Parts: sequence; structure tokens; C-alpha cells
Amino acid sequence: MKAIIRNGDGGPEVLQLSEVPPPQTTQTQLLVDVKATALNRADLIQRRGGYPPPQGESEILGLEIAGTVAGMGVAVTGFNEGDRIFGLVGGGGYAEQAVIDYRMAMVIPEKWSFEEAAAVPEVFFTANENIFTLGQLAEGETILIHAGGSGVGTAGIQIAHHAGARVFVTAGSSNKIENCKALGAIAGINYKRSDFATEIERLTDGEGVDVVLDFIGAPYLARNLQILKAKGRLLQVGLMGGSATEIDLGMVMRKRLQIIGSVMRPQSLDEKIAITQRFVQRWLPKLKAGTLRPVIDSVYPLAEAREAHQYMEANRNFGKIILKI
Ligand SMILES: NC(=O)c1ccc[n+]([C@@H]2O[C@H](COP(=O)([O-])OP(=O)(O)OC[C@H]3O[C@@H](n4cnc5c(N)ncnc54)[C@H](OP(=O)(O)O)[C@@H]3O)[C@@H](O)[C@H]2O)c1
Repeated sequence: MKAIIRNGDGGPEVLQLSEVPPPQTTQTQLLVDVKATALNRADLIQRRGGYPPPQGESEILGLEIAGTVAGMGVAVTGFNEGDRIFGLVGGGGYAEQAVIDYRMAMVIPEKWSFEEAAAVPEVFFTANENIFTLGQLAEGETILIHAGGSGVGTAGIQIAHHAGARVFVTAGSSNKIENCKALGAIAGINYKRSDFATEIERLTDGEGVDVVLDFIGAPYLARNLQILKAKGRLLQVGLMGGSATEIDLGMVMRKRLQIIGSVMRPQSLDEKIAITQRFVQRWLPKLKAGTLRPVIDSVYPLAEAREAHQYMEANRNFGKIILKI
């Protein structure tokens, strides 16, 4: 089969379309003819040699797939060849074929394209797990979502807004902020022009927010804690700005704050099945009904994975970048 492989660690130029052996299924896996996959920020880190796949997972990039069932292990139940499915994988998406445990595979709603389906798993799972399962965001509460125009941001804004929360965002351009407002954010802060903490204090009459979803890390940590209300929750989900800094732990104690970190990829199969189920129960029906939608920025052919990586690395996307196979 054809797949994008990494010819060493480095920039987008290391990505190369090559012929590789197809994956073998275990007893509980489906073999999938992949029709679409999507980029995630983690792919850029893996391409440079970081964020290795968990043991037993494919070395090929790609954390989510949409396609048709082409075969299956002996213990699989409930699926037939030709079924249209999508889901989260530990790796292997940038390829003509991939494998997925059948308990993590979801049937693609009839009206959806493969591209739409591939845009959903990683960002909606991440947003739901962090904002609700870990962050316990409740109706009427306030949340600040950094990098509102990221794939995860575009999912997070929609589900938090749908749950009745008041959503603030940061983003690097007025265009991205307007797009975030169209998804349900009530206000946006261009972090390149103003200090987000000062702006949040102004926008909330000095009250601050209940929850912060952060992907930037070190340079934002002190300010994230500063703008949290008493009993506020900081969800640390990315470190695009760096990982090491100092904070005043006194503020964490006085305000009874919680700092919660998480990464999806290394979690156990059982945990990922549970994550899939929570998404299927709460948000898949809303996506099927069109109340929520995957936000797709652009679609590239698999052979142009390099160009797609350059585009993401330049922070130009609003929502998901898809690779079509
Ligand atoms: N922990 C997990 O399980 C998990 C799962 C999925 C994703 N993530 C993390 O979630 C984040 C978003 O991922 P994604 O794939 O949705 O990203 P994405 O679509 O590539 O969007 C990232 C956006 O973040 C902004 N940004 C980049 N560097 C920045 C910086 N130093 N300071 C402020 N803003 C910056 C840029 O938008 P602007 O134009 O606004 O600057 C960029 O377009 C990443 O950190 C990723 O690693 C974590």
C-alpha cells in the first residue's frame, strides 16, 4: 500500500509518499481502506522526532481515520466488509490502509463525507474529555479557550456553547476571532495585540472565568491562574509555547484551583473505548443532527502531506486540515 513515511526527523521535507507493507489486524481489529485522515498538531512533533507512538502502534503518522471496512480479526462483532466507519487510532492514518479496534470504530452518519468524518474524532474527543469529563464545565459557567481557531478550539467552542457556558477565546487574528464568534464564542481576544488576562478581567468585570482550556503552557500559566475564579479549573492540554516556568502556588491554594493535565494517545485501550463512548452518547447525535459541525479548513491529497504540514506549521488553518486518500 502507499503511505506517507518519515525519511528521518525534521521539517515537512522529510515526509515522503512510499510503498510499505499493509498492516495486519489483531483478533479485535478492523482493517480499513482509509479514504480520509486529518492532521493534528502532534503530527508535527512526531515528524520532528518527538511524541513517539505507544508500543504496538504504527510508526506512520495519523491519529484519526475515515474509510470502509476491508477485513477483520476473528473476535470482531457488529461490522461487515464495506461498512463506512471512522475513529481515533494510535497511529497509521496517513496510509491507504490502517487498523482500528472495533470497539473504537463508529459508523459514519449517512449524509457525511469521509472528509467530514475524519475531521471529528481527535478534536471532539479531546475537547469533551477536557472540558466536561475532567473540567466539569457546567451550564452558566464561563470558559476561556486559547487558540480558538485550532482544531480542538473549534470543537471546544461549539460543545461548551451548546452546554450553556459563556465562551471566550484567544486567537492570533481578527479573522479567526470572527470565525470563533460564529461558532458560539461571545468575545475574542487577539493575543498578539492585547494582554489576554487584562482583557478577560475587563470582559468579566473582574470576576474571571471558571475554566481555562490551554494549549500554550509556560508563558500563559501564571496569567491563566490569575484569571481563574475561586475553585477554577485549568486544563493543560498542549505546550505550544513551552513547558517549564515558575508559579505562585499560594494562589493555587488560596483560590482552591485545580490544574489538570492530560494526553490522549498513551491512554489504555479501555480508557480510549470509554472516551469514544462518552463522545458517542453526548455529541455524536448533535453532530448527526447538524447542531454541531466539524470545521474543515482545507483538504489536501495524501501525496501533498508536506504542503499540508507547512500550512499547519504557519498557523494558517481555522479548524481541521484533511488528507484525502
Ligand atoms: N492532550 C491531548 O490529548 C491533545 C489532543 C489533541 C490536541 N492537543 C493539543 O491541542 C493543541 C491544538 O491542536 P490542534 O491540532 O487543534 O492545533 P492546530 O489546528 O494546529 O491549531 C493550533 C493554533 O494554535 C495557535 N498557536 C500556535 N502556536 C502558538 C503560540 N505559541 N501561542 C499562541 N497560539 C499559538 C495558532 O493559531 P493563532 O493564529 O491563533 O496563533 C495555531 O493555528 C496543540 O497544542 C495539541 O498538541 C492535545
